Amino acid sequence: MLYSEKVMDHFRNPRNLGTMDDADAVGEVGNAKCGDIMRIYLKIKDDIITDVKFITFGCGSAIASSSMATEMIKGKPVSEALQLSNKAVVEALEGLPTHKLHCSVLAEEAVKAAVKDYYDKNGIAYDKEQFKQAPTCACGE
Ligand code: FES
Repeated sequence: MLYSEKVMDHFRNPRNLGTMDDADAVGEVGNAKCGDIMRIYLKIKDDIITDVKFITFGCGSAIASSSMATEMIKGKPVSEALQLSNKAVVEALEGLPTHKLHCSVLAEEAVKAAVKDYYDKNGIAYDKEQFKQAPTCACGE
């Protein structure tokens, strides 16, 4: 089977799907090659991510990755969300086919973009190095 049960579950029943009117931060990223777009909304209180929503115009793996990523950062401090790697998302999904790894990179980048938006909006200083683009995967997509 190409996709794990976890991927299929998160694709069929995405967690935290939707938009947020009163978001404290929004991150949007796109993959230039496949054209897929992912947007993540964060509600933050006392440096804790109290709510997360996402919308993804993209493939099933991108939807599953963003769903899993939102679950992984909900209730966590902002600084912890920033540490979320696409590798951790893939592990939590019990794997993705190699040519679909870049879809999980999109999830990592969307979370980072949202955190950056939060820092920018609130005048919080940060190390720009933390927001360097994740290495693009070697899948060629
Ligand atoms: Fe574009 Fe998956 S994110 S194919």
